[in-house]
Amino acid sequence: INSKVIQPTSCEEEIESRSRVMRNKSKILIYAMVSIRVRSLSSLARVDLRSDTVTLPTEAMSKAMQSAKCDDDVLGRDPTVQKLEERVAHMLDKEDAVFVPSGTQANLIAVMAHCWERSCEYIVGDAAHIYLYEQGGGAVVGGAHPRVVPTQDDGSLSLDTVESLIRSDDPHFPVSKLFCLENTHNVKGGTVLTQEYMKQARKLCDRKQLKLHLDGARLWHAAHALDLSMAQICADADSIAVCLSKALGAPAGSLLVADSDTIAKAKRLRKLLGGAMRQSGVLAAAGLIALDEQFPKLPQDHFRAATIADAIQAEYLRDFVQIERYPETNILFLNLHPDAHVDPDALVPYCAEEHDVHFLQIGKPGRYRLVLHHQVDDSKLERTIAALRGARDKLLSN
Ligand SMILES: Cc1ncc(COP(=O)(O)O)c(C=O)c1O
Repeated sequence: INSKVIQPTSCEEEIESRSRVMRNKSKILIYAMVSIRVRSLSSLARVDLRSDTVTLPTEAMSKAMQSAKCDDDVLGRDPTVQKLEERVAHMLDKEDAVFVPSGTQANLIAVMAHCWERSCEYIVGDAAHIYLYEQGGGAVVGGAHPRVVPTQDDGSLSLDTVESLIRSDDPHFPVSKLFCLENTHNVKGGTVLTQEYMKQARKLCDRKQLKLHLDGARLWHAAHALDLSMAQICADADSIAVCLSKALGAPAGSLLVADSDTIAKAKRLRKLLGGAMRQSGVLAAAGLIALDEQFPKLPQDHFRAATIADAIQAEYLRDFVQIERYPETNILFLNLHPDAHVDPDALVPYCAEEHDVHFLQIGKPGRYRLVLHHQVDDSKLERTIAALRGARDKLLSN
Protein backbone atom coordinates (compact mmCIF):
# COMPACT_ATOMS: atom_id res chain seq x y z
CA ILE A 1 0.00 0.00 0.00
CA ASN A 2 2.74 2.26 1.07
CA SER A 3 4.39 1.84 -2.24
CA LYS A 4 1.16 3.02 -3.94
CA VAL A 5 0.84 6.11 -1.82
CA ILE A 6 1.80 9.03 -3.89
CA GLN A 7 4.22 11.15 -2.03
CA PRO A 8 3.08 14.80 -1.74
CA THR A 9 6.12 16.06 -3.59
CA SER A 10 5.71 13.64 -6.50
CA CYS A 11 1.95 14.44 -6.59
CA GLU A 12 2.75 18.13 -6.98
CA GLU A 13 5.29 17.26 -9.61
CA GLU A 14 2.71 15.18 -11.46
CA ILE A 15 0.17 18.01 -11.36
CA GLU A 16 2.79 20.50 -12.47
CA SER A 17 3.97 18.26 -15.29
CA ARG A 18 0.38 17.64 -16.52
CA SER A 19 -0.50 21.29 -16.40
CA ARG A 20 2.76 22.08 -18.25
CA VAL A 21 1.63 19.68 -20.98
CA MET A 22 -1.79 21.36 -21.04
CA ARG A 23 -0.23 24.82 -21.17
CA ASN A 24 1.99 23.74 -24.04
CA LYS A 25 -0.95 22.15 -25.85
CA SER A 26 -3.05 25.27 -25.48
CA LYS A 27 -0.11 27.39 -26.60
CA ILE A 28 0.21 25.21 -29.68
CA LEU A 29 -3.53 25.49 -30.27
CA ILE A 30 -3.52 29.26 -29.91
CA TYR A 31 -0.46 29.49 -32.16
CA ALA A 32 -2.18 27.30 -34.77
CA MET A 33 -5.35 29.40 -34.60
CA VAL A 34 -3.39 32.64 -34.90
CA SER A 35 -1.35 31.39 -37.83
CA ILE A 36 -4.47 30.14 -39.63
CA ARG A 37 -6.03 33.58 -39.06
CA VAL A 38 -2.87 35.33 -40.26
CA ARG A 39 -2.75 33.14 -43.33
CA SER A 40 -6.42 33.64 -44.09
CA LEU A 41 -6.04 37.41 -43.70
CA SER A 42 -3.09 37.46 -46.04
CA SER A 43 -4.94 35.30 -48.54
CA LEU A 44 -7.62 37.99 -48.54
CA ALA A 45 -4.82 40.08 -50.06
CA ARG A 46 -5.06 43.58 -48.77
CA VAL A 47 -5.24 46.26 -51.46
CA ASP A 48 -2.50 48.71 -50.61
CA LEU A 49 -2.67 51.95 -52.57
CA ARG A 50 -1.00 54.12 -49.92
CA SER A 51 2.08 54.43 -52.10
CA ASP A 52 4.11 52.57 -54.70
CA THR A 53 6.77 52.19 -52.01
CA VAL A 54 4.76 49.50 -50.18
CA THR A 55 5.57 46.61 -52.53
CA LEU A 56 7.32 43.48 -51.31
CA PRO A 57 10.24 41.93 -53.22
CA THR A 58 9.15 39.53 -55.95
CA GLU A 59 10.37 35.93 -55.99
CA ALA A 60 12.99 36.76 -58.62
CA MET A 61 14.25 39.67 -56.50
CA SER A 62 14.51 37.50 -53.39
CA LYS A 63 16.45 34.83 -55.30
CA ALA A 64 18.78 37.40 -56.82
CA MET A 65 19.40 38.92 -53.39
CA GLN A 66 20.27 35.52 -51.94
CA SER A 67 22.80 34.73 -54.63
CA ALA A 68 24.19 38.24 -55.23
CA LYS A 69 27.94 38.50 -55.70
CA CYS A 70 29.10 40.98 -53.09
CA ASP A 71 32.20 42.70 -51.82
CA ASP A 72 32.84 45.90 -49.89
CA ASP A 73 31.31 48.81 -51.80
CA VAL A 74 32.90 51.41 -49.52
CA LEU A 75 36.16 50.11 -50.97
CA GLY A 76 34.55 50.37 -54.41
CA ARG A 77 34.66 46.59 -54.90
CA ASP A 78 31.08 45.34 -54.95
CA PRO A 79 30.58 43.86 -58.45
CA THR A 80 26.76 43.92 -58.34
CA VAL A 81 26.64 47.57 -57.30
CA GLN A 82 29.11 48.38 -60.09
CA LYS A 83 26.95 46.52 -62.57
CA LEU A 84 23.85 48.44 -61.49
CA GLU A 85 25.62 51.82 -61.58
CA GLU A 86 27.02 51.12 -65.06
CA ARG A 87 23.71 49.89 -66.33
CA VAL A 88 21.70 52.88 -65.10
CA ALA A 89 24.33 55.41 -66.26
CA HIS A 90 24.20 53.74 -69.68
CA MET A 91 20.39 53.71 -69.75
CA LEU A 92 20.29 57.44 -69.00
CA ASP A 93 23.22 58.11 -71.35
CA LYS A 94 25.28 59.88 -68.68
CA GLU A 95 28.91 59.27 -67.70
CA ASP A 96 28.48 57.79 -64.25
CA ALA A 97 26.13 56.87 -61.40
CA VAL A 98 26.31 56.24 -57.68
CA PHE A 99 24.09 53.89 -55.69
CA VAL A 100 22.64 55.43 -52.51
CA PRO A 101 20.13 54.20 -49.92
CA SER A 102 17.25 56.57 -50.74
CA GLY A 103 15.81 59.15 -53.09
CA THR A 104 16.08 61.74 -50.35
CA GLN A 105 19.81 61.16 -50.13
CA ALA A 106 20.24 61.22 -53.92
CA ASN A 107 18.52 64.64 -54.04
CA LEU A 108 20.48 66.01 -51.09
CA ILE A 109 23.76 64.87 -52.61
CA ALA A 110 22.80 66.52 -55.91
CA VAL A 111 22.04 69.83 -54.19
CA MET A 112 25.30 69.65 -52.22
CA ALA A 113 27.40 68.63 -55.24
CA HIS A 114 26.05 71.46 -57.41
CA CYS A 115 26.10 74.01 -54.56
CA TRP A 116 29.64 73.01 -53.58
CA GLU A 117 30.88 76.41 -52.40
CA ARG A 118 29.32 78.44 -49.59
CA SER A 119 26.53 81.00 -50.28
CA CYS A 120 24.87 79.04 -53.09
CA GLU A 121 21.18 78.97 -53.87
CA TYR A 122 18.95 76.35 -55.50
CA ILE A 123 15.62 77.13 -57.17
CA VAL A 124 12.89 74.65 -56.36
CA GLY A 125 9.10 74.31 -56.59
CA ASP A 126 6.94 74.83 -53.50
CA ALA A 127 5.31 71.42 -54.06
CA ALA A 128 8.56 69.59 -54.87
CA HIS A 129 9.48 66.56 -52.79
CA ILE A 130 12.92 68.14 -52.30
CA TYR A 131 11.32 71.20 -50.75
CA LEU A 132 8.33 69.70 -48.93
CA TYR A 133 9.30 66.27 -47.69
CA GLU A 134 13.06 66.13 -47.21
CA GLN A 135 13.34 68.29 -44.08
CA GLY A 136 14.94 71.07 -46.12
CA GLY A 137 18.15 69.03 -46.18
CA GLY A 138 19.77 71.24 -48.83
CA ALA A 139 19.67 74.12 -46.33
CA VAL A 140 19.82 72.23 -43.03
CA VAL A 141 22.69 69.91 -43.95
CA GLY A 142 24.02 71.30 -47.21
CA GLY A 143 24.24 74.99 -46.29
CA ALA A 144 22.53 76.03 -49.55
CA HIS A 145 19.65 78.48 -49.67
CA PRO A 146 16.35 77.39 -51.31
CA ARG A 147 14.61 79.90 -53.58
CA VAL A 148 11.01 78.73 -53.82
CA VAL A 149 8.76 79.10 -56.86
CA PRO A 150 5.03 78.20 -57.04
CA THR A 151 4.49 74.82 -58.69
CA GLN A 152 1.96 74.86 -61.53
CA ASP A 153 -0.76 72.23 -61.81
CA ASP A 154 1.21 70.21 -64.36
CA GLY A 155 4.27 70.03 -62.07
CA SER A 156 6.27 72.62 -64.01
CA LEU A 157 7.52 75.99 -62.72
CA SER A 158 6.99 79.14 -64.77
CA LEU A 159 10.31 79.70 -66.49
CA ASP A 160 9.66 83.45 -66.56
CA THR A 161 9.28 83.42 -62.79
CA VAL A 162 12.40 81.29 -62.41
CA GLU A 163 14.36 83.67 -64.62
CA SER A 164 13.15 86.69 -62.66
CA LEU A 165 14.40 85.12 -59.44
CA ILE A 166 17.92 84.30 -60.59
CA ARG A 167 20.25 86.54 -58.60
CA SER A 168 22.45 89.22 -60.04
CA ASP A 169 26.08 89.37 -59.03
CA ASP A 170 25.76 91.32 -55.80
CA PRO A 171 27.41 90.60 -52.43
CA HIS A 172 23.99 90.95 -50.73
CA PHE A 173 22.70 87.85 -52.47
CA PRO A 174 23.48 84.17 -52.49
CA VAL A 175 24.76 82.82 -55.83
CA SER A 176 22.09 81.05 -57.93
CA LYS A 177 23.60 77.70 -58.93
CA LEU A 178 20.92 75.11 -59.41
CA PHE A 179 17.41 74.64 -60.80
CA CYS A 180 15.52 71.56 -59.52
CA LEU A 181 12.59 69.93 -61.31
CA GLU A 182 10.52 66.81 -60.50
CA ASN A 183 9.35 64.31 -63.14
CA THR A 184 6.85 62.75 -62.64
CA HIS A 185 5.48 65.11 -60.02
CA ASN A 186 4.25 63.32 -56.91
CA VAL A 187 2.08 65.96 -55.20
CA LYS A 188 0.57 67.13 -58.49
CA GLY A 189 -0.62 63.60 -59.28
CA GLY A 190 2.09 61.87 -61.31
CA THR A 191 2.20 64.61 -63.95
CA VAL A 192 4.81 64.44 -66.70
CA LEU A 193 7.01 67.33 -67.88
CA THR A 194 7.00 67.74 -71.66
CA GLN A 195 10.17 67.51 -73.71
CA GLU A 196 9.55 71.04 -74.96
CA TYR A 197 9.45 72.34 -71.38
CA MET A 198 12.70 70.50 -70.55
CA LYS A 199 14.37 72.04 -73.60
CA GLN A 200 13.33 75.55 -72.55
CA ALA A 201 14.51 74.87 -68.98
CA ARG A 202 17.87 73.73 -70.38
CA LYS A 203 18.21 76.89 -72.47
CA LEU A 204 17.48 79.04 -69.42
CA CYS A 205 20.08 77.15 -67.37
CA ASP A 206 22.69 77.55 -70.12
CA ARG A 207 21.97 81.27 -70.44
CA LYS A 208 22.21 81.83 -66.69
CA GLN A 209 24.90 79.24 -65.95
CA LEU A 210 22.76 77.10 -63.67
CA LYS A 211 22.86 73.33 -63.37
CA LEU A 212 19.61 71.42 -63.89
CA HIS A 213 18.75 68.61 -61.46
CA LEU A 214 15.83 66.27 -62.04
CA ASP A 215 14.19 64.48 -59.14
CA GLY A 216 13.23 61.48 -61.23
CA ALA A 217 12.08 59.15 -58.47
CA ARG A 218 9.39 58.09 -60.97
CA LEU A 219 11.14 59.09 -64.21
CA TRP A 220 10.55 55.53 -65.41
CA HIS A 221 6.83 56.36 -65.59
CA ALA A 222 7.46 59.59 -67.48
CA ALA A 223 9.46 57.69 -70.12
CA HIS A 224 6.56 55.28 -70.68
CA ALA A 225 3.96 58.06 -70.65
CA LEU A 226 5.81 59.95 -73.41
CA ASP A 227 6.93 56.76 -75.14
CA LEU A 228 10.56 57.88 -74.98
CA SER A 229 13.73 56.23 -73.77
CA MET A 230 15.16 57.10 -70.35
CA ALA A 231 18.11 58.70 -72.19
CA GLN A 232 15.82 60.95 -74.23
CA ILE A 233 13.77 62.03 -71.26
CA CYS A 234 16.72 63.18 -69.20
CA ALA A 235 18.92 64.48 -72.01
CA ASP A 236 18.50 68.09 -70.84
CA ALA A 237 19.31 67.46 -67.16
CA ASP A 238 22.78 67.64 -65.61
CA SER A 239 21.94 65.22 -62.83
CA ILE A 240 19.07 62.84 -62.20
CA ALA A 241 17.94 61.00 -59.07
CA VAL A 242 16.09 57.77 -59.89
CA CYS A 243 14.49 55.41 -57.34
CA LEU A 244 14.31 51.64 -57.54
CA SER A 245 12.04 51.41 -54.52
CA LYS A 246 8.94 53.15 -55.89
CA ALA A 247 6.86 51.41 -58.56
CA LEU A 248 9.86 49.39 -59.77
CA GLY A 249 9.32 47.40 -56.58
CA ALA A 250 12.86 46.91 -55.25
CA PRO A 251 13.09 47.01 -51.45
CA ALA A 252 15.53 49.95 -51.27
CA GLY A 253 17.96 52.04 -53.25
CA SER A 254 18.27 55.02 -55.55
CA LEU A 255 20.91 56.28 -57.94
CA LEU A 256 22.28 59.69 -58.70
CA VAL A 257 23.33 59.86 -62.33
CA ALA A 258 25.51 62.62 -63.84
CA ASP A 259 28.92 63.43 -65.36
CA SER A 260 31.93 61.80 -63.73
CA ASP A 261 33.12 64.94 -61.90
CA THR A 262 29.73 65.35 -60.22
CA ILE A 263 29.65 61.65 -59.30
CA ALA A 264 33.16 61.87 -57.82
CA LYS A 265 31.88 64.66 -55.54
CA ALA A 266 28.72 62.65 -54.91
CA LYS A 267 30.76 59.68 -53.67
CA ARG A 268 32.54 61.91 -51.14
CA LEU A 269 29.18 63.35 -50.06
CA ARG A 270 27.58 59.91 -49.77
CA LYS A 271 30.30 58.93 -47.30
CA LEU A 272 29.84 62.18 -45.38
CA LEU A 273 26.10 61.57 -45.11
CA GLY A 274 26.53 57.98 -43.94
CA GLY A 275 25.13 56.48 -47.13
CA ALA A 276 28.15 54.41 -48.18
CA MET A 277 27.19 50.77 -47.63
CA ARG A 278 29.29 47.62 -47.51
CA GLN A 279 27.81 44.50 -49.19
CA SER A 280 25.10 46.57 -50.86
CA GLY A 281 25.19 44.23 -53.84
CA VAL A 282 22.35 42.46 -52.00
CA LEU A 283 20.17 45.51 -52.67
CA ALA A 284 21.62 46.27 -56.10
CA ALA A 285 20.74 42.70 -57.18
CA ALA A 286 17.06 43.38 -56.49
CA GLY A 287 17.39 46.66 -58.39
CA LEU A 288 18.78 44.92 -61.46
CA ILE A 289 15.81 42.53 -61.44
CA ALA A 290 13.44 45.47 -60.99
CA LEU A 291 14.78 47.04 -64.18
CA ASP A 292 14.23 43.83 -66.18
CA GLU A 293 11.03 42.65 -64.56
CA GLN A 294 9.06 45.76 -63.57
CA PHE A 295 10.16 48.65 -65.80
CA PRO A 296 8.50 47.19 -68.94
CA LYS A 297 5.25 46.60 -67.03
CA LEU A 298 4.65 50.14 -65.74
CA PRO A 299 2.08 51.07 -68.42
CA GLN A 300 -0.34 48.62 -66.80
CA ASP A 301 -0.25 50.75 -63.62
CA HIS A 302 -1.09 53.82 -65.75
CA PHE A 303 -3.96 51.92 -67.32
CA ARG A 304 -5.30 50.87 -63.90
CA ALA A 305 -5.09 54.42 -62.51
CA ALA A 306 -7.07 55.56 -65.57
CA THR A 307 -9.60 52.76 -65.04
CA ILE A 308 -10.33 53.99 -61.50
CA ALA A 309 -10.61 57.55 -62.83
CA ASP A 310 -13.07 56.38 -65.49
CA ALA A 311 -15.16 54.54 -62.90
CA ILE A 312 -15.30 57.68 -60.77
CA GLN A 313 -16.36 59.83 -63.68
CA ALA A 314 -19.10 57.37 -64.54
CA GLU A 315 -22.58 58.22 -63.25
CA TYR A 316 -22.58 56.29 -59.98
CA LEU A 317 -19.66 57.86 -58.11
CA ARG A 318 -19.75 61.30 -59.69
CA ASP A 319 -21.74 62.96 -56.90
CA PHE A 320 -19.45 61.45 -54.24
CA VAL A 321 -15.80 61.99 -55.31
CA GLN A 322 -14.10 63.85 -58.15
CA ILE A 323 -10.74 63.18 -59.76
CA GLU A 324 -8.33 66.08 -59.36
CA ARG A 325 -6.95 65.56 -62.87
CA TYR A 326 -6.98 62.64 -65.26
CA PRO A 327 -3.95 60.45 -64.39
CA GLU A 328 -1.02 60.54 -66.79
CA THR A 329 0.84 57.83 -64.88
CA ASN A 330 0.27 55.76 -61.70
CA ILE A 331 -0.91 58.40 -59.20
CA LEU A 332 -4.52 59.46 -58.80
CA PHE A 333 -5.80 62.19 -56.49
CA LEU A 334 -9.47 62.31 -55.53
CA ASN A 335 -11.42 65.04 -53.77
CA LEU A 336 -14.75 64.66 -52.04
CA HIS A 337 -17.47 66.28 -54.11
CA PRO A 338 -18.07 69.75 -52.59
CA ASP A 339 -21.81 69.04 -52.31
CA ALA A 340 -21.38 65.60 -50.74
CA HIS A 341 -22.12 65.91 -47.05
CA VAL A 342 -19.59 63.36 -45.91
CA ASP A 343 -17.15 63.40 -43.02
CA PRO A 344 -13.80 63.62 -44.89
CA ASP A 345 -12.11 61.54 -42.20
CA ALA A 346 -14.58 58.66 -42.68
CA LEU A 347 -13.64 57.49 -46.19
CA VAL A 348 -10.17 56.06 -45.49
CA PRO A 349 -11.19 54.02 -42.39
CA TYR A 350 -14.38 52.80 -44.10
CA CYS A 351 -12.50 51.43 -47.10
CA ALA A 352 -9.76 49.96 -44.87
CA GLU A 353 -12.07 48.30 -42.35
CA GLU A 354 -14.89 47.15 -44.63
CA HIS A 355 -12.97 46.32 -47.81
CA ASP A 356 -9.29 46.03 -46.78
CA VAL A 357 -8.54 48.73 -49.36
CA HIS A 358 -5.99 51.25 -48.11
CA PHE A 359 -5.09 54.71 -49.35
CA LEU A 360 -4.15 58.03 -47.77
CA GLN A 361 -5.82 61.35 -47.09
CA ILE A 362 -3.15 63.87 -48.12
CA GLY A 363 -2.70 67.63 -48.09
CA LYS A 364 -6.13 68.66 -46.79
CA PRO A 365 -9.33 67.02 -45.50
CA GLY A 366 -11.24 65.35 -48.31
CA ARG A 367 -8.22 64.93 -50.63
CA TYR A 368 -7.08 61.33 -51.17
CA ARG A 369 -4.17 59.73 -53.00
CA LEU A 370 -4.28 56.31 -54.65
CA VAL A 371 -1.00 54.99 -56.06
CA LEU A 372 -0.94 52.01 -58.43
CA HIS A 373 1.92 49.51 -58.52
CA HIS A 374 2.62 46.00 -59.76
CA GLN A 375 1.12 44.34 -56.68
CA VAL A 376 -2.32 45.73 -57.50
CA ASP A 377 -3.81 43.39 -60.10
CA ASP A 378 -7.17 43.50 -61.86
CA SER A 379 -9.06 41.82 -59.02
CA LYS A 380 -7.67 44.36 -56.55
CA LEU A 381 -8.61 47.10 -58.97
CA GLU A 382 -12.20 45.84 -58.94
CA ARG A 383 -12.17 45.73 -55.14
CA THR A 384 -10.96 49.33 -55.05
CA ILE A 385 -13.85 50.47 -57.21
CA ALA A 386 -16.25 48.34 -55.15
CA ALA A 387 -14.89 49.94 -51.95
CA LEU A 388 -15.57 53.43 -53.33
CA ARG A 389 -19.09 52.38 -54.34
CA GLY A 390 -19.65 50.86 -50.90
CA ALA A 391 -18.38 54.06 -49.30
CA ARG A 392 -20.77 56.13 -51.38
CA ASP A 393 -23.72 53.97 -50.29
CA LYS A 394 -22.72 53.93 -46.67
CA LEU A 395 -21.38 57.45 -46.12
CA LEU A 396 -23.65 59.48 -48.40
CA SER A 397 -26.82 57.91 -47.06
CA ASN A 398 -25.84 58.43 -43.39
C1 LIG B 1 9.25 62.58 -56.12
C2 LIG B 1 10.00 61.96 -54.99
N1 LIG B 1 11.28 62.25 -54.81
C3 LIG B 1 12.01 61.71 -53.82
C4 LIG B 1 11.44 60.82 -52.94
C5 LIG B 1 12.26 60.29 -51.80
O1 LIG B 1 12.53 58.94 -51.90
P1 LIG B 1 12.91 58.09 -50.59
O2 LIG B 1 11.65 57.81 -49.89
O3 LIG B 1 13.59 56.89 -51.17
O4 LIG B 1 13.85 58.92 -49.78
C6 LIG B 1 10.09 60.48 -53.08
C7 LIG B 1 9.46 59.53 -52.14
O5 LIG B 1 8.32 59.18 -52.24
C8 LIG B 1 9.35 61.07 -54.13
O6 LIG B 1 8.05 60.79 -54.30
